[in-house]
Amino acid sequence: MDPLMPPPPIRRIVVDAPHVVVPAPEPETNGAVRMRPRVTTDVVERMRVEELTITYGPKVAVNGVNLPVHQGEVLALIGPSGCGKTTLLRSLNRLVELTPGAARGGKIVLDGDDVDAIEVTSLRRRISMVFQQPNPFPMSIFDNVAYALREQGSKRVKRAELMAPVRNALERAGLWDEVGDDLDRPALRMSGGQQQRLCIARALAADPEVLLLDEPCSALDPRSTATIEELILQLRESLAVVIVTHNLQQAYRIADRVAFMYLGELVEYGLAEDVFERPQHTRTAEYVGGAFG
Ligand SMILES: Nc1ncnc2c1ncn2[C@@H]1O[C@H](COP(=O)(O)OP(=O)(O)O)[C@@H](O)[C@H]1O
Ligand SMILES: [Mg+2]
Repeated sequence: MDPLMPPPPIRRIVVDAPHVVVPAPEPETNGAVRMRPRVTTDVVERMRVEELTITYGPKVAVNGVNLPVHQGEVLALIGPSGCGKTTLLRSLNRLVELTPGAARGGKIVLDGDDVDAIEVTSLRRRISMVFQQPNPFPMSIFDNVAYALREQGSKRVKRAELMAPVRNALERAGLWDEVGDDLDRPALRMSGGQQQRLCIARALAADPEVLLLDEPCSALDPRSTATIEELILQLRESLAVVIVTHNLQQAYRIADRVAFMYLGELVEYGLAEDVFERPQHTRTAEYVGGAFG
C-alpha cells in the first residue's frame, strides 16, 4: 500500500445484516505522517520579509509580516482562504506589483539584497513560481523546459546542447523516467500530475534559489500529490521552498516550518511540530485543531 495514504476503512461483511464500516486503527496524528526527520543544522537564511504590508486599494491583504525563508527547509504558509497567503507568496518575486492597484510597504531581502534593487527578470529567475493549475506552454515537453534556458540568452543554442540541462531539470522534477524517451510529445497531452511536474521542471531549469509553490497539488489526484510531495522534500536540499497549501495534512507531512496567517497577519510561525502539536495561539489551535482533531 502507498505509505503516504491513510489506511482504508475495513469493511466487515455480515450476512443478512447491513454492512458495517469499521474505521482503521488510529495512526499517530490521525492519518498524517511526518515524512522525514527535519534538518536542524546548517540552515541558511535565503530570504526575509520585514514589516511587509500589501494593499489592494483600501483592502489590506498582508499586514506587517516578518518572516525568514531558509534553504534546506520547506516553509508552508497556511490559513483560511483570503488570509493573504498567495499575496505574500507573489510578493517574494515581485509578481504582486503586476496587479493593478496593489501597493507594498516593508522590505523583502534575498541573500542580503533588497529585491527592489535586483533587476526583475533576474529576480524571477532566482525565485521561480509554480501555480495552482498546471500551466504548461502549448509546445513539446522539451521546449517547455528549454524555454527558461533559451530565455536566459541561449536562444540560438542547438537542441543537442540544451539536452543535458533539460534532462537534468526533468530528473530533478521526477519526470525523466516517464517522459525521457518522448520529449517531443505535446505537453498538453500529459496527465495533470505530469503537467505539474513539468511546470516544476520548467521552474528548476532556470536553477532558482527559491521555489514558490501556490497550492501545487490542489488540482491533482492523491497519487500525483504524493509524488510531488516526495519531490518537494528532495528539492529542499538545494533550494528554499515556500509552499502555500490549504491541506493541513500536507503541511504536516512536508513542512519544516509553518507560518499560520489569519486576516493578513502572521499569527504564528515555528517548527511544524510545534505549530501543529503545541500551538501558542488560540487562533492557530482552532485552525489546526480541525485537521487532526
Ligand atoms: N487582485 C486583487 N484585487 C483586490 N483584492 C485582492 C486581489 N487579490 C487578492 N485580493 C484580496 O486580498 C485578500 C488576500 O487574498 P489572497 O492573497 O489571494 O489570499 P489566500 O491566498 O490566503 O486565499 C483577500 O481578501 C482577497 O480578496
Ligand atoms: Mg491563495
